[in-house]
Amino acid sequence: EDDSSSSSDSGSGGGKKLVLGFSQVGSESGWRSANTDSVKEAAKEAGYTLKFSDAQQKQENQISAIRSYITQGVDVIAFSPVVVTGWDAVLKEAKAKKIPVVLTDRSVETSDESLFVTLVGSDFTDEGRRAAKILEKVLEKAGHKGPVKIAQLEGTTGAAPAIERAKGFKEVMDADHADDWKIVVSQTGDFTRAGGKQVMAAFLQSNPDIDVLFAHNDDMGIGAIQAIEAAGKKPGKDILIVTVDGVKDGFIAMSEGKINAIVECNPLLGPQLMEVVQKVKDGETVERWIKTEESDFMQDQAKAALPTRKY
Ligand code: AHR
Repeated sequence: EDDSSSSSDSGSGGGKKLVLGFSQVGSESGWRSANTDSVKEAAKEAGYTLKFSDAQQKQENQISAIRSYITQGVDVIAFSPVVVTGWDAVLKEAKAKKIPVVLTDRSVETSDESLFVTLVGSDFTDEGRRAAKILEKVLEKAGHKGPVKIAQLEGTTGAAPAIERAKGFKEVMDADHADDWKIVVSQTGDFTRAGGKQVMAAFLQSNPDIDVLFAHNDDMGIGAIQAIEAAGKKPGKDILIVTVDGVKDGFIAMSEGKINAIVECNPLLGPQLMEVVQKVKDGETVERWIKTEESDFMQDQAKAALPTRKY
C-alpha cells in the first residue's frame, strides 16, 4: 500500500496536532497532481499530521485506506471518492468510531446523509452547463452553420464529475439545441491522456465527420488532440474542442489554437479543506456543500492567462 505519513513541526502553538487521514483518487491527471500538492501543502501550513494515500483510481484501495485510518483513530477522514456508490459500509464504520468524514472534490450517493459532514468541491453539473454555453460561443466564433455532431470523452465511469458534467451539458443541449446538436459518440477515457487518445482514435474511425469534441478534462482533450493530428486533422479548426479543468498544459494547447475553450475546475482545495477539517474537529457546524469559485476561458484569453496559471 502507498501510505505515506508526513508531519510538520510548525503546529499552531502547543497542544496535540490534528491528525487527518486523506485518501486521494489517484494521479490520473494534471488536475489531480495539483490537488494533491494543494492538500499536502495546506496540511503542512495548518500544522496537521497528514496521513496520505493514493488509491490509483481503485475503490477497494480507498476503502482499505479509510479502514486503516479508522483503525489508527485519526481525528478526521477526508477523501475524494473515485466513484459515487458503494461507500455506506465503510462510512458506517467511521461513524461508529465517531470519526467525522469530509468529502472533497467528488461526492457520494448514500442512503444516509449523516455519513459525511460536508463536501468541499466544485459544482460539476454547472461545469457541464458552462461547457455547453461556451460551446455556443465557440461555434459562433468558428462560423459553424448547420447540425453539430459532438463526440464526448467522459471521465471515469461512475465518478461524480463524469456523471454530472454529462448531465449538465445534456440539460442545455436538450433545452436549447434539440434540433441542431447531437452527441454521436460518447465513451469514457478515464480522465487520462492515454485514454483520451485511444478513445478519440476509435471515434474518428467510426465517425470521421465529428464537428466538436467535449472532453470531461484537459488531459483527455490533450490525448485526443494527438489522435486528431495523427488522423491528419487540425484540432481547434476541423474539430472544435471544449474541455474542463484549466491546467497549464490545457492552457498551452489552447494558446496554440488546439483547444477552443476551457471551463475551469479549481483543484486548489487544500486551504479550504483544512479550515473545514478544523471546524469539524472542533464540533462547529459547517455548510453541507462548500463550493469552489471558477471561471471560463475562450481561446483569445489563453495567451494572457497562461503566465498566471499556477499548475
Ligand atoms: O474530480 C475532478 C476531476 O478529476 C478532474 O476534472 C479530472 O481532471 C480529475 O481526474
